[in-house]
Amino acid sequence: MATVIDGKAVAAGVVEQVTAASAALEAQTGVRPGLAVVIVGNDPASHVYVSSKSRMAKQCGFKSVQHTLPETTSQAELEALVETLNQDPEIHGILVQLPLPDGLNSDPVIQSIRPEKDVDGLHVVNAGKLMTGDLEGGLISCTPAGAMLFVRQTHGPDLSGLNAVVIGRSNLFGKPMSALLLAANATVTTAHSRTKDLASVCRNADILVAAVGRPQMVKAGWVKPGATVIDVGINRIDAPERGEGKTRLVGDVAFDECAEVASTITPVPGGVGPMTIAMLMANTVTAAMRAHGIKPPSF
Ligand code: GUN
Repeated sequence: MATVIDGKAVAAGVVEQVTAASAALEAQTGVRPGLAVVIVGNDPASHVYVSSKSRMAKQCGFKSVQHTLPETTSQAELEALVETLNQDPEIHGILVQLPLPDGLNSDPVIQSIRPEKDVDGLHVVNAGKLMTGDLEGGLISCTPAGAMLFVRQTHGPDLSGLNAVVIGRSNLFGKPMSALLLAANATVTTAHSRTKDLASVCRNADILVAAVGRPQMVKAGWVKPGATVIDVGINRIDAPERGEGKTRLVGDVAFDECAEVASTITPVPGGVGPMTIAMLMANTVTAAMRAHGIKPPSF
């Protein structure tokens, strides 16, 4: 049976470090890190995520501002709000929750955020810094940054000689995750829905990262014995065994069977999920410290 990574415990450690850095910044400058979270429309899952982001920001000692805009918000109104937040010296981090309602185009909104305040790491300037190996100067997308922390805890900072396979090629996760693994000297394959014989590609992986959005797709036969398996999926499936109409959360990895083959594995829930919010807090305190000329800690 594999070692199961406790994402909640690792995230709590990051939050503790962030809270200390935030307190140090306030003691030195009188400034608290400011995080603005913008949500448009009524998607219930997005509202749950945004509330926990705002709550955690307060817990870290930040100034936390939430802008809840109606479904009918126009592109121009949303971009005007981002511009106001760009100009606000008390706001160091801006996050626009995705997906936006139909009719709104997320890319121009994301690209209108000042890169220094782009705590999601989605601006082309931040994505470009990551792709060119500048891991210190920009802001890195939160979920891959969190997943990478697990990889570093398991394998150390240097992944020389290790094969890593990332299933998924999104801008939010797959591409930055592959870039982080490559920057740590892994030999990286970015697999996706058009990859031929995905199972045998995955069987090559010393580090297998799944972000496909398909419940329990990765089976035991896809996992190299002794591998590290990081599950980024969050899928809600029916759970009739819990009673009529009940559901439960599962990842992209068939956990029980893969845990028999892997040496280290992350659970869902309680694996990568808690890390996303923790790394958002880390990016916010980093942005605030840089804005005041103070070197942030490394997370
Ligand atoms: N929706 C789901 N995950 C994320 C995220 O990491 N950032 C933003 N902005 N929206 C999301």
